[in-house]
Amino acid sequence: MNQGVTTSKKKLGIIIGGSGLVGGALVYYFQKKWGYDILAPNSKKLSLREPDDIKEYFQSHQPEFIINAAMVALDSNPKLTFDVNYVGSINLAKVAIALGIPYIFISSAAVLPPGEDLKETDTLPLTANLSNYAKSKLMCELTLEHLRKTEGLDHTVVRLAIVYGKHDHKIQGFHRLFFSIVDQSMPALPTQKGVYHSYTNSKKIPYFVHHILQNRDEFSGQTYHFVDPEPVELSRIILTIRNYLMLKRPMAIYIPLPVATIGIKFLRVILKIINKIGIDARLPPEIMFIDNFYQPQTLSGQKLQDSSFTDPYPERDIFSLIPDLIQYYVTRWEQMNLIPPINKCFFDPEKLSEDFLDEPQKLLASILSKKIEPFSNFEKPT
Ligand SMILES: NC(=O)c1ccc[n+]([C@@H]2O[C@H](COP(=O)([O-])OP(=O)(O)OC[C@H]3O[C@@H](n4cnc5c(N)ncnc54)[C@H](OP(=O)(O)O)[C@@H]3O)[C@@H](O)[C@H]2O)c1
Repeated sequence: MNQGVTTSKKKLGIIIGGSGLVGGALVYYFQKKWGYDILAPNSKKLSLREPDDIKEYFQSHQPEFIINAAMVALDSNPKLTFDVNYVGSINLAKVAIALGIPYIFISSAAVLPPGEDLKETDTLPLTANLSNYAKSKLMCELTLEHLRKTEGLDHTVVRLAIVYGKHDHKIQGFHRLFFSIVDQSMPALPTQKGVYHSYTNSKKIPYFVHHILQNRDEFSGQTYHFVDPEPVELSRIILTIRNYLMLKRPMAIYIPLPVATIGIKFLRVILKIINKIGIDARLPPEIMFIDNFYQPQTLSGQKLQDSSFTDPYPERDIFSLIPDLIQYYVTRWEQMNLIPPINKCFFDPEKLSEDFLDEPQKLLASILSKKIEPFSNFEKPT
């Protein structure tokens, strides 16, 4: 078995999906923070859909590990989902077997049923009625286990819950929900009281992946839930974001699921009419998971806690990051003209812009007396 990866000299790793939310965090940490040689070809250079792309790429580059954080859009058709999420992912596993290197596969809580304290082994049965996305992820997990037993694959499955963090440039998943709060298109709460979910901090994923690459004996052939220890109530997150932004909506009223479902059906009819007159408008693909807003899904982090991995930032959870996320995404969405300008003073966590607006003298006095230090330190280059 491969004995793992150390950082004593530059190691070459390949990350597929490096332009995405999760892959981007992995590339940043491995390359910038830990000094690895990382290749992260985009899907134009190496498409998982094209076996020849994979073959050619790995003929020119022989990495010491492969991390797969790629996925097609949630609403992709069955063929594209199957070709990329499943066949492409397994082709990468075949490369890993041929090269005798570890393969880290990023999977999803979509392979699990609703419920609480779900263990790694609590996967759904593989049936036709799963979404294309869930089916492809589950088939990958099952095939990887098969390849481990039959062909000696050295892999680890890292199963993520709802991922939050900066740099989701496609506005997907949690950030889609966040967007609908910011742009005021959520009138009330599309959930019910007491519905908790697990969440994953995108910035912590690289620390775990780094650790499992360095400890192959412990982590090879294993699946781990990589989630924050405490599940969070969906309505609480929505209302916290609303309160930070000092918005009136969404109102603290729960929309019953049948009402939400009828509303979505109605919107679909309207969109069909709009599309017929040549305007391209679509519902966000996350709408297909509306049932999940009304059902709890909390993942057990016990196996993770019992492992040798230590959370580098145990105090950081989704609530501690909300001010940062607001600052980052609202600025970005304003610049992209996706939302009208919002007065950022309301959610400036240190209230500096509020003081700048209303009490500049007091602010300047605090800065000059070094009570506040908003500046960066610069050193003369050596
Ligand atoms: N985000 C979440 O809430 C969440 C939750 C649970 C699990 N996950 C898992 O985390 C992983 C990453 O998700 P994400 O949110 O980071 O996705 P994302 O932001 O949509 O990024 C997807 C990545 O996949 C790449 N990709 C798409 N089609 C490809 C192809 N044919 N060949 C090669 N690369 C291709 C994209 O590259 P290009 O930009 O070059 O096309 C992009 O870098 C996925 O496995 C997903 O299942 C995510």
